[in-house]
Amino acid sequence: MTVSHPTLQVLTADDVLARFKALRSRQPVNFFAFYSSQLGGVVTDPALMVLPFDDHIVHRGHGIFDTAGLVNGNIYDLDAHLDRFLLSAERSKLRLAGSRQEMRDIIVKTTAVSGRRDGSIRYWLSSGPGSLELIPAAGSEPGFFVMIFGGLAYPERWLTEGARVMTTTYPIKAPIYAITKATDYLPNVLMQMEAKEAGFDNGVFIDEEGHVGESSNMNVAFVTRDGVLAHPKFDHILAGCTSLRILELATALQDEGLLKGIEVRDITVAEARRAREMLLVGSSVKVAPIVQWDEHVIGDGKPGPVSKALLRLLDEDMRNSDRLIEVPY
Ligand SMILES: Cc1ncc(COP(=O)(O)O)c(C=O)c1O
Repeated sequence: MTVSHPTLQVLTADDVLARFKALRSRQPVNFFAFYSSQLGGVVTDPALMVLPFDDHIVHRGHGIFDTAGLVNGNIYDLDAHLDRFLLSAERSKLRLAGSRQEMRDIIVKTTAVSGRRDGSIRYWLSSGPGSLELIPAAGSEPGFFVMIFGGLAYPERWLTEGARVMTTTYPIKAPIYAITKATDYLPNVLMQMEAKEAGFDNGVFIDEEGHVGESSNMNVAFVTRDGVLAHPKFDHILAGCTSLRILELATALQDEGLLKGIEVRDITVAEARRAREMLLVGSSVKVAPIVQWDEHVIGDGKPGPVSKALLRLLDEDMRNSDRLIEVPY
């Protein structure tokens, strides 16, 4: 029996460009500027925001990334994100594509090219192209990429009514992988898909000892029964730049009497479920209240005062603090 199939066309460079443009017109994206060390410059047409397939970041997940926020023409807390980026590079045995200062400069200049005043800035370091093996190919050049995009969006309902999360059935990453911001987000992706399929907004990883971990691309924190802001230790989850900043900003709420203490420690599921408030914390979500976790209602089932106060403090910090880099448009 013969199987009929359309003749496969061998494409010219012009055909490829036309097809990438067609792909983008079928599925518009909020991507405004993209720097690639492999191109040695910035492109603003999403059709041109591409990587060689054989870069090991694509077929082996040997790459890292980080994301910083762009708020009102300023980049927020970039140095904290770059510190984590460099740590992730070291843990992943990735060579840098330039010095920290050079990469920082490229991030700022790519943002300027985008002309955007609000959105997100994500950047990647890749192992580079040259083979389909596992270890970096002989002579491979590490790649550095920067994308200025619209950012991740969450429903307004998360703030007004609160989000609902479920304990994921997927195992938490081993600590060495969880503390490294590598591109292998399969457990995180599956957790979020599982939660959506079950009618929840997101999932929560629990570690083998029964301690609370984190969510898919955000941390979780709690306000305990006795009014303490409690955050899981950062030895088995990603050290969220937002969480680290929130833990500092929260001291103002202690002064106001809204919090009795601030603790970073192991949190058992049993204690966490009794919390007055449960929060999602991250660069994209900022601070959002959680009002339901599995079948348990958190607190009185409504967004609580600490989550609102922390969001206000973070919003202020994003608009007026020494953590802003003004973009030279
Ligand atoms: C797994 C994971 N945990 C936590 C966070 C929160 O980190 P940040 O506050 O730096 O966005 C992120 C997002 O980067 C993440 O991907």
